[in-house]
Amino acid sequence: MTTLPFQIDLTNKVAVVTGGAGILCGQFVDALAACGAKVAVLDLKLENAEKKAKEVQEQGGIAIGVEANVLDKESLKAAHEVILDKFGPCDILINGAGGNHPLGTTTKEYLFEEDLKQKAEDVITFFDLDPQGVQFVFNLNFLGTLLPSQEFASDMVNREGTTIINISSMNAYTPLTKIPAYSGAKAAVSNFTQWLAVHMSKVGIRVNGIAPGFFVTAQNEKLLKNEDGSFTERSEKILRNTPMDRFGEAHELIGTMLYLVSHDASSFVNGVVIPVDGAFSAYSGV
Ligand SMILES: NC(=O)c1ccc[n+]([C@@H]2O[C@H](COP(=O)([O-])OP(=O)(O)OC[C@H]3O[C@@H](n4cnc5c(N)ncnc54)[C@H](O)[C@@H]3O)[C@@H](O)[C@H]2O)c1
Repeated sequence: MTTLPFQIDLTNKVAVVTGGAGILCGQFVDALAACGAKVAVLDLKLENAEKKAKEVQEQGGIAIGVEANVLDKESLKAAHEVILDKFGPCDILINGAGGNHPLGTTTKEYLFEEDLKQKAEDVITFFDLDPQGVQFVFNLNFLGTLLPSQEFASDMVNREGTTIINISSMNAYTPLTKIPAYSGAKAAVSNFTQWLAVHMSKVGIRVNGIAPGFFVTAQNEKLLKNEDGSFTERSEKILRNTPMDRFGEAHELIGTMLYLVSHDASSFVNGVVIPVDGAFSAYSGV
């Protein structure tokens, strides 16, 4: 069983984790199951969702893998029906599916005049950003948080201890270079977290977020590590701006997630996005 920073009792609670087969949210799946929740692992590919659920079952936890595309209402509806049938109504929703795309990313941090005059073919400037790439990233992160919230919050109205946790990012506070689409989309996720917390406040659903700092995962590995495993220039820059001098480890997000899920611990905490970042967002660089 996963090692937990502390135990909370989630027996008979149903948790839905989108992107649950991924690296960070996979940790949330393990932790929720270790606290006794029945966990639905939602992910794009059934095979990956089921693989994660099987891992949980082998550890003695209760989980099912369910295929769902967070951008497709019909697919979410179908997943919801499976979960209602197997587990019952959702108490905890973690909106973890998200990510960036190369088509919403500039090659360089800054625009240089020479890149306009004699542009190398493989250089993507701001002017080359593909609207579809930008839209993909906006949709995946923002709509991909809003649509599952619409689907599963309907189970939560006026049932005690229900909660939604969104996953934002450092770039929601100040945009990171190269990734305007992802930065804007995560800013939208943080903003929506506040909006939804206010909107749902009369029907007892708390809505909060977690803004992870920098964690090395499959998604960002190419940006952060060279082929030989050494850190890229970008990684070195991140580390210089992280006062704790290191990347985070996925299990370090678990304590914040459990705190936000626990009605006993955080019943009056609503509409906040908690950074878990080794003080990156607090540091001005000076
Ligand atoms: N890794 C980091 O340092 C970091 C930092 C800040 C925020 N985040 C955020 O944390 C969350 C998890 O990231 P991760 O690093 O574990 O990434 P990951 O790629 O390991 O996990 C993301 C999961 O989401 C799933 N997914 C993608 N599109 C989907 C869709 N349309 N429908 C359903 N599932 C879909 C993927 O299949 C994958 O399993 C993301 O929202 C990410 O933006 C990550």
